[in-house]
Amino acid sequence: MMKIAIGADHAGFAYKEMLKQYVSEFDFCEVCDCGTDSTDSCDYPVFAKKVCDKVTSGDCSMGILVCGTGIGMSIAANKQKGIRAAVASDEYSVKFTRLHNDANVLCLGARVIAEEKARILTELFLTTEFEGGKHLRRVAMFEE
Ligand code: RB5
Repeated sequence: MMKIAIGADHAGFAYKEMLKQYVSEFDFCEVCDCGTDSTDSCDYPVFAKKVCDKVTSGDCSMGILVCGTGIGMSIAANKQKGIRAAVASDEYSVKFTRLHNDANVLCLGARVIAEEKARILTELFLTTEFEGGKHLRRVAMFEE
């Protein structure tokens, strides 16, 4: 069973709720909801940290973060050691950020992509394996 941490700010709240339901229907996934819990205005770095803490502690294997653009979440998430967060809105980028970057957090923009696209990208992210090989050396350089 793969444990997935999911978090959002007010702009991403509705997508987070939708994705939480979607991911929990995969028989290989268990979802850990890190908030926020409403559309009340809040600060996205708080929720980026909650999700990233779950990933770096090993409690969850991957994270999904949603804000208006996905960008603020990705900036905040990538400040944390061990986090490789990718903001993406197309299948090619999501596939290759798993294959080549071993991204462990996907950041989505609720004001950028449609709900159906968010579901497609989420599933692709969770089901694409890191290629390893020469990419392992490059990914290791992130932590140096
Ligand atoms: C909130 O209005 C918005 O700034 C936030 O969701 C996000 O898009 C930041 O990058």
